[in-house]
Amino acid sequence: MNLSCAGVVAALLLATMLRADAPLDVESRVNALVARMTLDEKIGQMSQSTGMRSPLAERLKQEIRAGRWGSFLNAGSPADRAEAQRIALHESRLGIPLLFGRDVIHGYKTVFPIPLGQAAAWDPELVEAAAREAAREAWAEGIRWTFAPMSDIARDPRWGRVAEGLGEDPYLAGKLVAAMVRGFQGESLEAQGSIAACAKHFAGYGAAEGGRDYNSAWIPEVLLREVYLPPFRAARDAGVASFMTAFNTLNGVPATSNRFLLRDILRGEWKYDGLVVSDYNAVMEMIAHGVARDGSDAAREAVNAGVDMEMVSTAYHDHLKALVASGAVPLAEIDEAVRDILRLKFRLGLFDQPVAAPREVEPGAQSLALAERAAAESAVLLKDDGVLPLADAVRTVAIIGPLADSPEDQMGTWAMDGQPQYVETPLAAFRKLLGSGRVLYARGLKNSRDTSHEGFAEAVEAARRADAALVFVGEERILSGEARSRAYLDLPGAQEALVDAIHATGKPMVVTILAGRPLTFHRVAAEAGAVLYCFHPGTMGGPAIAKLLLGREAPSGRLPITFPRTVGQVPIYYAHLNTGRPPLASELGIPAGNPVHPEGYTSKYIDVDFTPEYPFGFGLAYTKFDYSNLRLSAPVLEGGGRITVSAEIANRGSRAGTETVQLYIRDLVASVAQPVRKLRGFERVALKAGETRTVSFTLSAADLAFYDEHVRLVTQPGRFYVWIAPNAAEGVRGEFELR
Ligand code: GLC
Repeated sequence: MNLSCAGVVAALLLATMLRADAPLDVESRVNALVARMTLDEKIGQMSQSTGMRSPLAERLKQEIRAGRWGSFLNAGSPADRAEAQRIALHESRLGIPLLFGRDVIHGYKTVFPIPLGQAAAWDPELVEAAAREAAREAWAEGIRWTFAPMSDIARDPRWGRVAEGLGEDPYLAGKLVAAMVRGFQGESLEAQGSIAACAKHFAGYGAAEGGRDYNSAWIPEVLLREVYLPPFRAARDAGVASFMTAFNTLNGVPATSNRFLLRDILRGEWKYDGLVVSDYNAVMEMIAHGVARDGSDAAREAVNAGVDMEMVSTAYHDHLKALVASGAVPLAEIDEAVRDILRLKFRLGLFDQPVAAPREVEPGAQSLALAERAAAESAVLLKDDGVLPLADAVRTVAIIGPLADSPEDQMGTWAMDGQPQYVETPLAAFRKLLGSGRVLYARGLKNSRDTSHEGFAEAVEAARRADAALVFVGEERILSGEARSRAYLDLPGAQEALVDAIHATGKPMVVTILAGRPLTFHRVAAEAGAVLYCFHPGTMGGPAIAKLLLGREAPSGRLPITFPRTVGQVPIYYAHLNTGRPPLASELGIPAGNPVHPEGYTSKYIDVDFTPEYPFGFGLAYTKFDYSNLRLSAPVLEGGGRITVSAEIANRGSRAGTETVQLYIRDLVASVAQPVRKLRGFERVALKAGETRTVSFTLSAADLAFYDEHVRLVTQPGRFYVWIAPNAAEGVRGEFELR
């Protein structure tokens, strides 16, 4: 081959750049590689497949050699991935490595509580540690990219994916999203055990109308910026390596072709240089949305909006070449997308690291211990009339219910790599802790949807023979997560009837609910002596729950989402506006006799109390915390200054406990009506029995900013309330002025 002198120099330069010890930076290496790629190879990088099966098909090997795919998701075994990577690195023309992605949402082989459960711990350090552990396990099996954290705010428990998010509040969710990103990505993306995270689903997915998955989201820009974008901004600020576009339309435009979201906000305002991947088939779904005539239209819309990689559907592969040829898609846009993809692969060290020998990991003692801690911290005690912790006099317990011994369900949604054989259920845990002789067991129902009462007699008999009945109900895992929206929030099946039957025995009864969302269970709560709520707690939920009920651990969870009394109240959330006719406390009902002008022309329901069953931030402990003596460092906050707010938190009980102290503000007068409360800080405080601690927070004007009617981020002088509180409905209140 007659190589020109320049060609030799370019080849030598490229060879130098691609070597691990090349002094050149990532950008130079990316640009040098893009300059060498054919259009087919570029489009290959923009295509992600789920089509890897064991053993690797010869056709797939050929496609990898030809550079047909840049990434695979949720497919193959560690050995398949290692073989495919070897082929890509050593048998393709340019040796561009593959990027293996997977939904490592709340654990990999060791499963932690679902994200909504982790949010109930209000513990960023714990969330980061759990993500770190998940990344370590996934990395060991060749995964380098997870499609998490789900950063969608959800205020509608009918939506199945509320399970996968971090609750209703942008401040709490933002702190926890950032913690997850840090956990997954570690100090450096190329370090062993680090995997790229993915802020999804950008954006507004959690506002699906009717709580029906994939449904339209209509969000005014002020609300979008106040509530739905902040967790994504927190992910971006934490250095998240990728974003995923949402399935839904946002104000009529699919997120996957939404230039406002992807170009104006993500790339423009936030200066984001990471990879943007579509959701599964979301590019081709623009045809069903009615904004693309065909695959070619869909491909053009998505790539022009800035979607770098197409997940699973093949519109890019099938049409981009022709779109470039016709000028409908500038080659520069293709190159921009490929640079984003290659940049991540370089940052992950995929070009420089040898292909690790494939291995299968199993949960280890460290990860299981962390999973148990996470499950314990995520459990929320909603009621306790004194039956907890179980007294020593309780010699025999009856473990009852379809969720008492159901490993799969305990792991919750998105636990595809979870190992049921490692799951310790509540039944197993009580048998281990009390000895089998002290534990009776009756399932009562086959599963959470079972409507048959034929198992009740056995359950009632077990309760009668025991000193206390511990009932485990809730949702099978298949009832929550993606495409699992529910129009009712009641306990499915005949679970309420089962609780009624056990209640009728008169035995002390503790009800533990394992679910993927807030449920409505008013009568169950009335009948139970205590209610412990565990958002699908994961592999070690059993020992965590058992130790909590036995008092060897103390509950500290706090609700990350409001619990409605009935689904008819949805959407219901704490940071609501006051309205011009705020209801008086618990106005309810219409006087008999149909008076012509009944009282109470206020924003309420006439048939149910307008307040939630359990407010945001709520949770009980085995002790009593008192809040008092709120103090402000000054009555006025000057523009550039800070104000310190403090209060005394006293443990008035006889047991130690951990309280999550919360800071809320309210802007009393602004050009745009402001919520009655907004969370602006929280701190977990461990207090011994009898101990009092002063807890302080600082506020600056930036903490008081909001988007005005012109969608400008502003602060406006005036009066503010401030609370230091145990939840969004209580607390000690002070007032200050912003000047
Ligand atoms: C799914 C989900 C997304 C997930 C992706 C890959 O449909 O919407 O969250 O990461 O496809 O499994």
